[in-house]
Amino acid sequence: MSMDIRRLSERKRHGQELAADELREVVAAYTAGDIGDAPMAAWLMAVCCEGMTEAEAWALTEAMTDSGERLDLSGLSRPTVDKHSTGGVGDKVTLVAGPIAAACGACVAKMSGRGLGHTGGTIDKLETIPGLSTQVAPDDFMAQAERVGLVVAAQSMALAPADGKMYALRDATGTVDSPALIASSIMSKKLAAGADAIVLDVTVGSGAFMRERVEALSLAELMVSIGRRAGRCVGALLTDMDQPLGEAVGNAIEVEEAVRALRGLGPRDVHEVSVAVAAWMLVAARIAADEASGRAMAEEAIASGAALDALREMVQAQGGDVAALDRPMLGHESAELGRWGASEAGWVTCLDARGVGYAALAAGAGRRRKTDEVDPAAGVRLLRKVGDCVEPGDILAEVTARSHERLIAAFEELDRAYQIGNERPELGPLVLDIITPSAEVAP
Ligand code: URA
Repeated sequence: MSMDIRRLSERKRHGQELAADELREVVAAYTAGDIGDAPMAAWLMAVCCEGMTEAEAWALTEAMTDSGERLDLSGLSRPTVDKHSTGGVGDKVTLVAGPIAAACGACVAKMSGRGLGHTGGTIDKLETIPGLSTQVAPDDFMAQAERVGLVVAAQSMALAPADGKMYALRDATGTVDSPALIASSIMSKKLAAGADAIVLDVTVGSGAFMRERVEALSLAELMVSIGRRAGRCVGALLTDMDQPLGEAVGNAIEVEEAVRALRGLGPRDVHEVSVAVAAWMLVAARIAADEASGRAMAEEAIASGAALDALREMVQAQGGDVAALDRPMLGHESAELGRWGASEAGWVTCLDARGVGYAALAAGAGRRRKTDEVDPAAGVRLLRKVGDCVEPGDILAEVTARSHERLIAAFEELDRAYQIGNERPELGPLVLDIITPSAEVAP
């Protein structure tokens, strides 16, 4: 092997642009096990610190996509559409918007990720459903896409394996929050999974990897440009992640909340973001003429029960126990339940999403090391959120964890995450910006 990863790390650290064939070699060698975790982590850190040009990000995405198969969904009978979030806390939108779009006639065939850093992952959530497999072989992925119109799989050795390895290493080495690494990770999965249309949910705020709106917009533009360059119809929504989405943060409890949302009984914010994402998925797939008709279709899919039926069908097709959707916490009772109460009166003025993510992580809902197992039952239920009025002794949040030590660690994070003040705060919009879906490449 002629490529020297140390040399490439040094060049990147000195701000030099790497060539497409050099990036291809890095990706191929790491995927094959010819580069160890330590030198790869150093290279990822150099990328985090120095960034990448758009040409490098495109080349990295292509190399990661080509580390496995590229599925061709063009023969399917329904229009294909994918969605992906850049990550958040309490973000169960895939589990709500995916079934809605499928119920409205789209084929949603997607690859999702596991928890990353303080953020949760759809795959960890889905795997709390007894029997459900997220390891779907390419042929089965295609067959389920055609038959059910909804399939959510984990990245595997067949599809974007480079992302699987790099994602786990980034999680373990604090090298997640780089726009180029996020864009290539997400877009390699999207390009490998083959959908014609893609809607990106780019989160902004304390619980997102991009804390500022301007950074989030530039990440959205980078991913949109990569997707359009690959010939896909791509759009993006910028959504608020200053406080967690919904009330549940964890794994099984998020499935439970997603099912409630599909019954029309979920928290307002989960409903609003999921319907917005689903509406734009329908527009991107050319099933809805515009956002307003997409929204109307999405609301009807919830009201008629068709969206929940779509989730049930997917769970069954992937070997899961459909009855568990009616009682997602059954079998996931945790050893300890603790309640976190308010010590003063006032309004919740801030509920730091990142802090709540750390609380869920401390409870056992995420991984601190690459090899950690997530506890399906662990999590945080937020009983009070920004704008709510509280009295001393009111319960702000409940935590479930396997041990008392974990509960205490989660409480310490919640203590930092909640702020109580004297003035009722204004609540901002949940959808902050939209890049309308299009396949047109910017000149
Ligand atoms: N989601 C992904 O799939 N990859 C990232 O890097 C961040 C969020």
